[in-house]
Amino acid sequence: MSLPTIDNNEEVYEDPLDLMDEIDALKKEKDATLLAHFYIDGDIQEIADFTGDSLKLARDAVKVETSTIVFSGVHFMAESTKILSPEKKVLLPDLNAGCSLADSCQYGDLLQFQEKLRAEGRDFETVAYINTTAKVKSLCDWIVTSGNAREIIDRVPKDKEILFVPDQHLGRYLQEVSGRNMILWPGSCMVHEIFSVQDLLRAKKNNPGSIVLAHPECPHRILEVSDFIGGTEKLRQYVMSIKEPGTFLVATEANMIHPLHKSAPQHTFIPVPGIMSSTGETCACNRCPHMALNTLQKVRDCLKYGKPEIEWQPYFDKAKDVLERSLLQ
Ligand code: 13P
Repeated sequence: MSLPTIDNNEEVYEDPLDLMDEIDALKKEKDATLLAHFYIDGDIQEIADFTGDSLKLARDAVKVETSTIVFSGVHFMAESTKILSPEKKVLLPDLNAGCSLADSCQYGDLLQFQEKLRAEGRDFETVAYINTTAKVKSLCDWIVTSGNAREIIDRVPKDKEILFVPDQHLGRYLQEVSGRNMILWPGSCMVHEIFSVQDLLRAKKNNPGSIVLAHPECPHRILEVSDFIGGTEKLRQYVMSIKEPGTFLVATEANMIHPLHKSAPQHTFIPVPGIMSSTGETCACNRCPHMALNTLQKVRDCLKYGKPEIEWQPYFDKAKDVLERSLLQ
Protein backbone atom coordinates (compact mmCIF):
# COMPACT_ATOMS: atom_id res chain seq x y z
CA MET A 1 0.00 0.00 0.00
CA SER A 2 1.56 3.38 -1.05
CA LEU A 3 1.93 6.24 1.40
CA PRO A 4 0.90 9.76 0.32
CA THR A 5 3.48 12.46 -0.50
CA ILE A 6 3.84 14.85 2.42
CA ASP A 7 3.12 18.58 2.07
CA ASN A 8 6.60 20.12 2.42
CA ASN A 9 7.67 18.59 -0.92
CA GLU A 10 9.82 15.96 0.78
CA GLU A 11 8.89 12.55 -0.50
CA VAL A 12 8.27 9.75 1.97
CA TYR A 13 9.54 6.33 0.95
CA GLU A 14 7.19 4.34 -1.26
CA ASP A 15 7.96 0.96 -2.78
CA PRO A 16 9.13 1.56 -6.38
CA LEU A 17 7.30 -1.56 -7.60
CA ASP A 18 4.00 -0.33 -6.09
CA LEU A 19 4.54 3.05 -7.69
CA MET A 20 5.26 1.47 -11.07
CA ASP A 21 2.01 -0.52 -10.85
CA GLU A 22 0.11 2.59 -9.85
CA ILE A 23 1.56 4.55 -12.78
CA ASP A 24 0.63 1.78 -15.21
CA ALA A 25 -2.96 1.83 -13.98
CA LEU A 26 -3.17 5.64 -14.03
CA LYS A 27 -1.85 5.79 -17.61
CA LYS A 28 -4.85 3.73 -18.72
CA GLU A 29 -7.36 5.53 -16.51
CA LYS A 30 -6.21 9.01 -17.63
CA ASP A 31 -5.60 8.13 -21.30
CA ALA A 32 -1.94 9.08 -20.99
CA THR A 33 1.37 8.16 -22.64
CA LEU A 34 4.66 8.38 -20.73
CA LEU A 35 7.81 9.58 -22.51
CA ALA A 36 11.18 9.42 -20.74
CA HIS A 37 14.56 10.78 -21.81
CA PHE A 38 17.64 8.53 -21.55
CA TYR A 39 18.92 10.73 -18.67
CA ILE A 40 15.97 9.85 -16.44
CA ASP A 41 16.08 7.35 -13.60
CA GLY A 42 16.07 3.76 -14.95
CA ASP A 43 12.85 2.75 -13.14
CA ILE A 44 10.95 5.48 -14.98
CA GLN A 45 12.52 4.46 -18.31
CA GLU A 46 11.31 0.91 -17.61
CA ILE A 47 7.64 1.95 -17.42
CA ALA A 48 7.76 4.58 -20.18
CA ASP A 49 5.93 3.99 -23.46
CA PHE A 50 8.73 5.75 -25.34
CA THR A 51 12.35 6.34 -24.34
CA GLY A 52 14.99 8.05 -26.40
CA ASP A 53 17.13 11.06 -27.15
CA SER A 54 15.71 14.55 -27.62
CA LEU A 55 15.15 14.06 -31.35
CA LYS A 56 13.39 10.70 -31.15
CA LEU A 57 11.15 11.81 -28.30
CA ALA A 58 10.15 15.00 -30.13
CA ARG A 59 9.19 12.84 -33.13
CA ASP A 60 7.51 10.14 -31.00
CA ALA A 61 5.40 12.75 -29.20
CA VAL A 62 3.64 13.87 -32.39
CA LYS A 63 2.56 10.28 -33.04
CA VAL A 64 0.98 9.79 -29.62
CA GLU A 65 -2.73 9.01 -29.76
CA THR A 66 -3.73 9.51 -26.12
CA SER A 67 -5.12 12.88 -24.98
CA THR A 68 -2.36 13.35 -22.35
CA ILE A 69 1.43 13.14 -22.58
CA VAL A 70 3.58 12.95 -19.45
CA PHE A 71 7.09 14.07 -20.37
CA SER A 72 9.63 12.77 -17.92
CA GLY A 73 12.52 15.03 -18.83
CA VAL A 74 13.21 18.72 -18.40
CA HIS A 75 11.14 21.82 -19.08
CA PHE A 76 12.31 22.63 -22.62
CA MET A 77 11.44 19.07 -23.73
CA ALA A 78 7.88 19.20 -22.39
CA GLU A 79 7.51 22.71 -23.81
CA SER A 80 8.64 21.55 -27.28
CA THR A 81 6.15 18.67 -27.04
CA LYS A 82 3.29 21.08 -26.25
CA ILE A 83 4.34 23.32 -29.14
CA LEU A 84 4.37 20.41 -31.59
CA SER A 85 1.11 18.93 -30.24
CA PRO A 86 -1.00 21.90 -29.08
CA GLU A 87 -4.17 19.82 -28.77
CA LYS A 88 -2.59 17.52 -26.15
CA LYS A 89 -2.47 18.02 -22.42
CA VAL A 90 1.29 17.94 -21.69
CA LEU A 91 2.40 17.29 -18.11
CA LEU A 92 5.89 17.66 -16.64
CA PRO A 93 6.33 15.89 -13.26
CA ASP A 94 8.21 18.88 -11.79
CA LEU A 95 8.08 22.36 -13.37
CA ASN A 96 11.41 23.20 -11.71
CA ALA A 97 13.20 20.68 -13.92
CA GLY A 98 15.15 23.27 -15.89
CA CYS A 99 18.41 23.16 -17.83
CA SER A 100 21.68 24.99 -17.22
CA LEU A 101 22.15 25.39 -20.98
CA ALA A 102 18.69 26.92 -21.45
CA ASP A 103 19.39 29.26 -18.50
CA SER A 104 22.63 30.42 -20.09
CA CYS A 105 20.86 32.05 -23.05
CA GLN A 106 18.17 34.51 -22.06
CA TYR A 107 15.72 35.99 -24.60
CA GLY A 108 16.72 39.64 -23.98
CA ASP A 109 20.45 38.91 -24.20
CA LEU A 110 20.10 36.97 -27.45
CA LEU A 111 17.88 39.65 -29.00
CA GLN A 112 20.38 42.36 -28.08
CA PHE A 113 23.30 40.36 -29.47
CA GLN A 114 21.48 39.63 -32.74
CA GLU A 115 20.66 43.35 -33.09
CA LYS A 116 24.30 44.25 -32.50
CA LEU A 117 25.43 41.78 -35.18
CA ARG A 118 22.85 43.13 -37.64
CA ALA A 119 23.93 46.71 -36.90
CA GLU A 120 27.48 45.64 -37.81
CA GLY A 121 26.15 44.40 -41.16
CA ARG A 122 26.68 40.70 -40.36
CA ASP A 123 24.52 38.38 -42.49
CA PHE A 124 23.77 35.34 -40.32
CA GLU A 125 21.23 32.69 -39.35
CA THR A 126 20.74 31.68 -35.74
CA VAL A 127 20.93 27.96 -34.97
CA ALA A 128 19.80 26.95 -31.49
CA TYR A 129 20.37 23.72 -29.65
CA ILE A 130 16.99 22.35 -28.54
CA ASN A 131 18.14 22.98 -24.94
CA THR A 132 16.68 26.51 -25.04
CA THR A 133 13.40 28.10 -23.95
CA ALA A 134 10.57 28.46 -26.46
CA LYS A 135 10.98 32.24 -26.23
CA VAL A 136 14.60 31.90 -27.36
CA LYS A 137 13.56 29.43 -30.08
CA SER A 138 11.18 32.10 -31.39
CA LEU A 139 14.27 34.23 -32.24
CA CYS A 140 16.00 31.44 -34.17
CA ASP A 141 16.09 30.12 -37.73
CA TRP A 142 16.91 26.49 -36.92
CA ILE A 143 16.72 24.14 -33.95
CA VAL A 144 19.13 21.22 -33.64
CA THR A 145 19.48 18.26 -31.31
CA SER A 146 22.69 16.31 -30.97
CA GLY A 147 21.04 13.77 -33.30
CA ASN A 148 20.36 16.03 -36.31
CA ALA A 149 22.81 18.92 -35.80
CA ARG A 150 25.16 18.04 -38.63
CA GLU A 151 22.31 17.67 -41.10
CA ILE A 152 20.72 21.00 -40.10
CA ILE A 153 24.01 22.89 -40.26
CA ASP A 154 24.27 21.70 -43.88
CA ARG A 155 20.87 23.32 -44.55
CA VAL A 156 22.11 26.79 -43.58
CA PRO A 157 22.98 28.62 -46.84
CA LYS A 158 26.74 28.70 -47.39
CA ASP A 159 26.75 32.50 -47.83
CA LYS A 160 25.38 33.03 -44.30
CA GLU A 161 27.32 33.16 -41.07
CA ILE A 162 26.05 30.93 -38.26
CA LEU A 163 25.31 32.17 -34.76
CA PHE A 164 25.16 28.99 -32.65
CA VAL A 165 23.50 29.13 -29.21
CA PRO A 166 23.81 28.27 -26.35
CA ASP A 167 26.30 25.35 -26.14
CA GLN A 168 29.82 26.50 -26.97
CA HIS A 169 31.17 22.93 -26.78
CA LEU A 170 28.63 21.40 -29.13
CA GLY A 171 29.10 24.42 -31.41
CA ARG A 172 32.87 24.05 -31.43
CA TYR A 173 32.51 20.32 -32.21
CA LEU A 174 30.07 21.11 -35.05
CA GLN A 175 32.49 23.66 -36.48
CA GLU A 176 35.08 20.91 -36.64
CA VAL A 177 32.89 18.26 -38.29
CA SER A 178 31.03 20.60 -40.66
CA GLY A 179 33.89 22.94 -41.55
CA ARG A 180 31.56 25.93 -41.01
CA ASN A 181 32.73 28.88 -38.96
CA MET A 182 30.40 29.86 -36.17
CA ILE A 183 29.84 32.66 -33.74
CA LEU A 184 29.56 30.74 -30.46
CA TRP A 185 27.42 31.67 -27.47
CA PRO A 186 29.35 31.06 -24.22
CA GLY A 187 26.94 28.53 -22.63
CA SER A 188 27.60 25.02 -21.39
CA CYS A 189 25.93 22.10 -19.62
CA MET A 190 26.72 21.87 -15.90
CA VAL A 191 27.00 18.07 -16.08
CA HIS A 192 29.27 17.76 -19.11
CA GLU A 193 31.42 20.73 -18.09
CA ILE A 194 32.41 18.98 -14.87
CA PHE A 195 34.22 15.87 -16.18
CA SER A 196 37.87 15.89 -15.33
CA VAL A 197 40.45 14.77 -17.90
CA GLN A 198 42.63 13.45 -15.09
CA ASP A 199 39.84 11.21 -13.74
CA LEU A 200 39.07 10.03 -17.23
CA LEU A 201 42.70 9.17 -18.00
CA ARG A 202 43.03 7.40 -14.66
CA ALA A 203 39.89 5.37 -15.38
CA LYS A 204 41.29 4.50 -18.81
CA LYS A 205 44.56 3.31 -17.26
CA ASN A 206 42.68 1.24 -14.68
CA ASN A 207 40.60 -0.38 -17.41
CA PRO A 208 43.05 -1.38 -20.15
CA GLY A 209 41.41 -1.65 -23.55
CA SER A 210 38.38 0.39 -22.53
CA ILE A 211 36.64 2.65 -25.03
CA VAL A 212 35.72 6.22 -24.05
CA LEU A 213 32.27 7.40 -25.15
CA ALA A 214 31.55 11.13 -24.95
CA HIS A 215 28.58 13.39 -25.64
CA PRO A 216 29.48 16.42 -27.80
CA GLU A 217 28.32 18.67 -24.93
CA CYS A 218 31.66 17.77 -23.29
CA PRO A 219 34.48 20.32 -23.49
CA HIS A 220 37.21 19.89 -26.12
CA ARG A 221 39.68 18.60 -23.47
CA ILE A 222 37.40 15.57 -22.94
CA LEU A 223 36.48 15.04 -26.58
CA GLU A 224 40.11 14.93 -27.66
CA VAL A 225 40.80 11.95 -25.37
CA SER A 226 37.57 10.14 -26.34
CA ASP A 227 37.25 7.25 -28.78
CA PHE A 228 33.67 7.82 -29.91
CA ILE A 229 31.61 11.04 -29.83
CA GLY A 230 27.86 11.16 -30.28
CA GLY A 231 24.49 12.15 -28.90
CA THR A 232 22.77 9.67 -26.62
CA GLU A 233 21.10 7.63 -29.39
CA LYS A 234 24.29 7.51 -31.43
CA LEU A 235 26.17 6.20 -28.38
CA ARG A 236 23.51 3.52 -27.93
CA GLN A 237 23.72 2.46 -31.59
CA TYR A 238 27.51 2.33 -31.39
CA VAL A 239 27.69 -0.03 -28.39
CA MET A 240 25.03 -2.26 -30.00
CA SER A 241 27.16 -2.52 -33.13
CA ILE A 242 30.05 -4.07 -31.13
CA LYS A 243 29.28 -7.72 -30.47
CA GLU A 244 32.46 -8.70 -28.60
CA PRO A 245 32.13 -7.85 -24.86
CA GLY A 246 34.05 -4.69 -23.98
CA THR A 247 34.45 -2.00 -21.32
CA PHE A 248 33.15 1.50 -22.01
CA LEU A 249 33.86 4.65 -20.02
CA VAL A 250 30.82 6.89 -20.37
CA ALA A 251 31.29 10.67 -20.36
CA THR A 252 27.71 11.81 -20.21
CA GLU A 253 24.87 11.86 -17.66
CA ALA A 254 25.21 8.67 -15.60
CA ASN A 255 21.61 7.47 -16.13
CA MET A 256 22.60 6.89 -19.78
CA ILE A 257 24.14 3.66 -18.57
CA HIS A 258 20.63 2.23 -18.16
CA PRO A 259 19.72 2.22 -21.89
CA LEU A 260 23.29 1.32 -22.87
CA HIS A 261 23.27 -1.72 -20.63
CA LYS A 262 19.76 -2.69 -21.71
CA SER A 263 20.64 -2.46 -25.42
CA ALA A 264 24.07 -4.09 -25.16
CA PRO A 265 24.22 -6.23 -21.98
CA GLN A 266 27.39 -7.99 -23.15
CA HIS A 267 29.44 -4.88 -22.22
CA THR A 268 30.59 -3.28 -18.98
CA PHE A 269 29.80 0.43 -18.64
CA ILE A 270 31.62 2.69 -16.20
CA PRO A 271 30.46 6.26 -15.61
CA VAL A 272 33.08 9.02 -15.81
CA PRO A 273 34.18 9.96 -13.19
CA GLY A 274 32.13 7.27 -11.40
CA ILE A 275 33.90 5.23 -8.78
CA MET A 276 37.65 5.53 -9.10
CA SER A 277 39.16 2.20 -8.14
CA SER A 278 42.48 3.90 -7.29
CA THR A 279 40.97 5.93 -4.46
CA GLY A 280 37.50 4.46 -4.04
CA GLU A 281 36.09 7.98 -4.28
CA THR A 282 32.70 8.52 -5.83
CA CYS A 283 31.28 11.59 -7.41
CA ALA A 284 27.60 12.26 -8.07
CA CYS A 285 28.29 15.32 -10.22
CA ASN A 286 27.66 13.35 -13.42
CA ARG A 287 23.94 13.29 -12.49
CA CYS A 288 21.79 16.12 -13.82
CA PRO A 289 19.98 17.64 -10.80
CA HIS A 290 17.13 18.78 -13.07
CA MET A 291 16.53 15.37 -14.60
CA ALA A 292 16.70 13.94 -11.07
CA LEU A 293 13.61 15.96 -10.07
CA ASN A 294 11.67 13.36 -12.04
CA THR A 295 10.84 10.71 -9.46
CA LEU A 296 8.35 7.86 -9.62
CA GLN A 297 6.22 9.69 -7.02
CA LYS A 298 6.08 12.86 -9.10
CA VAL A 299 5.22 10.92 -12.26
CA ARG A 300 2.40 9.21 -10.32
CA ASP A 301 1.18 12.50 -8.80
CA CYS A 302 1.12 14.43 -12.06
CA LEU A 303 -0.91 11.64 -13.66
CA LYS A 304 -3.24 11.51 -10.68
CA TYR A 305 -3.87 15.27 -10.39
CA GLY A 306 -3.41 16.30 -14.04
CA LYS A 307 -0.72 18.89 -13.20
CA PRO A 308 1.78 20.55 -13.49
CA GLU A 309 0.74 21.27 -17.07
CA ILE A 310 2.56 23.19 -19.82
CA GLU A 311 0.22 26.03 -20.79
CA TRP A 312 0.18 27.49 -24.31
CA GLN A 313 2.04 30.84 -24.55
CA PRO A 314 1.70 33.50 -27.31
CA TYR A 315 5.32 33.05 -28.48
CA PHE A 316 4.77 29.31 -29.03
CA ASP A 317 3.35 30.03 -32.53
CA LYS A 318 6.69 31.36 -33.78
CA ALA A 319 8.64 28.60 -32.03
CA LYS A 320 6.31 26.04 -33.66
CA ASP A 321 7.37 27.07 -37.18
CA VAL A 322 11.06 26.66 -36.48
CA LEU A 323 10.63 23.42 -34.51
CA GLU A 324 8.53 21.81 -37.27
CA ARG A 325 10.90 22.89 -40.01
CA SER A 326 13.93 21.61 -38.09
CA LEU A 327 12.75 18.40 -36.45
CA LEU A 328 9.85 17.09 -38.51
CA GLN A 329 10.73 17.97 -42.12
P1 13P B 1 20.43 14.10 -26.67
O1 13P B 1 19.42 13.28 -25.97
O2 13P B 1 19.86 14.75 -27.87
O3 13P B 1 21.70 13.40 -26.93
O4 13P B 1 20.81 15.34 -25.71
C1 13P B 1 21.05 15.22 -24.43
C2 13P B 1 20.62 16.43 -23.70
O5 13P B 1 21.24 17.43 -23.72
C3 13P B 1 19.40 16.37 -22.93
O6 13P B 1 19.23 17.58 -22.26
